[in-house]
Amino acid sequence: MDLGISGKTALIAASTGGLGLAAARALAAEGVSVAITGRRRDRAEAIAAELRAAGGSAVAIAADLNTPEGISTAVDRTENEIGPVDIAVLNGPGPKPGAAAGLGADDIAAAFELLVKPHHALVSRVLPGMRERRWGRVLAIGSSGVTAPLPNLAVSNTGRAALAGYLKTLAAEVALDSVTVNLLLPGRIATDRVAELDAAAAKRRGVTIEDIQLESRKTIPARRYGSPEEFGAAAAFLCSAPASYITGVALRCDGGLIRSL
Ligand SMILES: NC(=O)c1ccc[n+]([C@@H]2O[C@H](COP(=O)([O-])OP(=O)(O)OC[C@H]3O[C@@H](n4cnc5c(N)ncnc54)[C@H](OP(=O)(O)O)[C@@H]3O)[C@@H](O)[C@H]2O)c1
Repeated sequence: MDLGISGKTALIAASTGGLGLAAARALAAEGVSVAITGRRRDRAEAIAAELRAAGGSAVAIAADLNTPEGISTAVDRTENEIGPVDIAVLNGPGPKPGAAAGLGADDIAAAFELLVKPHHALVSRVLPGMRERRWGRVLAIGSSGVTAPLPNLAVSNTGRAALAGYLKTLAAEVALDSVTVNLLLPGRIATDRVAELDAAAAKRRGVTIEDIQLESRKTIPARRYGSPEEFGAAAAFLCSAPASYITGVALRCDGGLIRSL
C-alpha cells in the first residue's frame, strides 16, 4: 500500500530509541523527512546519519522535550531545516510506578507535567500550521493502561487518561481541517524500557529475566512481545494518507493483551 506521505515532514518526540525511533524509521521508509529528537545528541546524530545514508531525509535535534525551551528548539529547527511539521508524534518517558492510594498532590502535578504539558505544548505549536495547510497528523504514543488502567502505575494511568481526553476532544474540533488526532497504545513492545523493567522485576523477585519474560508472555494471547517494527508500521499507517478518515481513535498494538473491545 502506498502510504502517500512521501515528502511530508514529521517531528517525532523522543525518537533516539524505543517506540519513537520505531515510528521514525517507519515514516522515513515512506519518504517522510524526519526530525529525530531526544536528549542524547550523539545518538540522535548517528540515527539521522544512518537514515540519510539509506537515502532518506533526517535531522538530529538534541532537546529535553520536558521543557518549553526544548519544545521550541525542536519545532523551530524542524521548520527551518526540513519544513513545516505535517506529522507530530507525541512521545516521552514514562513515570515512576506507584499505587493510587499513596498519591500525593505532587504526584498528580507530576502526571500533568510529564504526560500532558509537553504534548500540549508541541501540539499548540504545530496545529495552527496543519489547520492552515488543511493536512495534518497528530499521533500520541500512550499505553494500554489508557484502556484498562494498569496496577501500580497510578501516575501513568492518571496522566495518560488526561492526555487521551484532551486529544479526543481536539480530534473533533480539527477534523474539518483534515487534521487527524489519534493514540497508539503499546502493550509490551520489546524496547530498552521494557528490558529494564523486566530486569528490575527479576532483581526484585530474585528470579531470572527469562522467568519474568515467560510469565509476561503468558498474559499475552500472541505469547510474545511485539517488535518495534510492528509498532512502527502501525504508527506509519495512522500518519498516512489512506488513514485520512480515522480520527479520535485509540488503537492498541498489544498482541491481544487487553481483553475488552
Ligand atoms: N515499550 C512498551 O511496550 C511500552 C508500553 C506501554 C507504554 N510505553 C510508553 O511509551 C513511551 C516510550 O517507551 P519506550 O519503550 O520507547 O521507552 P525507551 O526505550 O526508554 O525510549 C524512551 C525515549 O525517550 C527519550 N527521552 C526520555 N526523556 C526525554 C526527554 N526529557 N526529552 C526528550 N526525549 C526523552 C529517550 O531518549 P534520550 O535518552 O536521548 O532523551 C528515548 O529515546 C514511554 O512513555 C513508555 O512508558 C511503552
